[in-house]
Amino acid sequence: MAISAKIQKFMTNASFIRKMFEEGVRMRREFGAENVFDFSLGNPILEPPPQVHASIRRLLEKPQPGLHRYMSNAGFPEVRERIAAYLRDEFAEPFEAADLVMTTGAAGALNIALKSLLDPGDQVVVVAPFFPEYRFYVDNHGGELRVAESAADFDLDLASLEAQFGPRTKAVLINSPNNPTGRMYSAARLTELGALLAAWEQKTGHTITLLSDDPYRKLVYDGARAPNPFAAYPDTVLLTSHSKDLGLAGERIGYAAISPRHRDRRELTDALTFVNRTLGYVNAPALFQRVAAETQSAAVDIGVYQALRDRLCAGLADIGYRFTRPQGAFYVYPQTPIPDDQAFIRILQKHRVLAVPGCGFARTGHMRLSYSVSMAEVEGALEPLRAAFQEATSKR
Ligand SMILES: Cc1ncc(COP(=O)(O)O)c(C=O)c1O
Repeated sequence: MAISAKIQKFMTNASFIRKMFEEGVRMRREFGAENVFDFSLGNPILEPPPQVHASIRRLLEKPQPGLHRYMSNAGFPEVRERIAAYLRDEFAEPFEAADLVMTTGAAGALNIALKSLLDPGDQVVVVAPFFPEYRFYVDNHGGELRVAESAADFDLDLASLEAQFGPRTKAVLINSPNNPTGRMYSAARLTELGALLAAWEQKTGHTITLLSDDPYRKLVYDGARAPNPFAAYPDTVLLTSHSKDLGLAGERIGYAAISPRHRDRRELTDALTFVNRTLGYVNAPALFQRVAAETQSAAVDIGVYQALRDRLCAGLADIGYRFTRPQGAFYVYPQTPIPDDQAFIRILQKHRVLAVPGCGFARTGHMRLSYSVSMAEVEGALEPLRAAFQEATSKR
């Protein structure tokens, strides 16, 4: 076998997501697309807001020479300046263009941050349940993943986090609003996390960088605002993208923002810029850097996601599913009515509902439902969700 043993193992372990995807294709063929309720994918349904299309048109109607050429590996300086201005407003921190590296989505930002921080064997602490790609991204750069547990309502559990700290801990990686739970950490809880990281540094002399993976920052509901991680802790790097807030997942545009108060502010930007090049990303897509610069304050209509959340949550509660109401992103993470989440996913499938088992996110006994689907799909899924619940609980 030409493929490395490690990648073979990873592919086997990650196969449930691929299986769900293949099942979706098969079931749509067999039963018709309108009779399959697919809650397994995190693909944003909303089209980009009009500002994005207007910006693309403007850029193409009067193309500036060099629009599509290579630029600095960190991105166009004027793009970074405009985004820095947005961040100064948003976070009340003195961001400059030099604190930003434009990336190929949040995934690219995460990879360049991890590559820059980790020596082989260094550790990154994540909070379960977590986005499964973290495991692979940390491995990409020779790191070791350490898993802390969250509280029952998926809030940060600081004692569990601290229990994972050691002399090789280089970063704590958080994601709020969260995939797969929809949980958003409060400003007070982030401040406590910052205090914990500062105390660890005082005690041990080791600095832990806080990596805040925030692609869902603007997808928060009920008029809430996502809190500011830079205020909580100086040694913070924010990784984000416009995959969800501008509906541009396929265009691969995002950025890493290094806190102006990070102790290695300039060195870290230089490192991220260097590895953006050497990992082969070279630079973020040129046209969409320009578009992002012009559309920082735009967003998709989050009211649509909020209405989907409300309808799905009301339906799930009515059936008897137990879950923590999501505050953001477009996922809900209910308990499965039987402890074996994979068995319950198979029951759901019989009823033509696709979901991802909790084992994929390192918290079993749950499932992730992505409500980035149409309202008709949510409405149509409620009876099958009820039937599956009843089938599973009648067997108990
Ligand atoms: C928590 C989290 N981080 C990062 C990403 C990667 O997003 P991007 O498309 O910006 O690379 C995703 C995508 O679903 C995600 O859910």
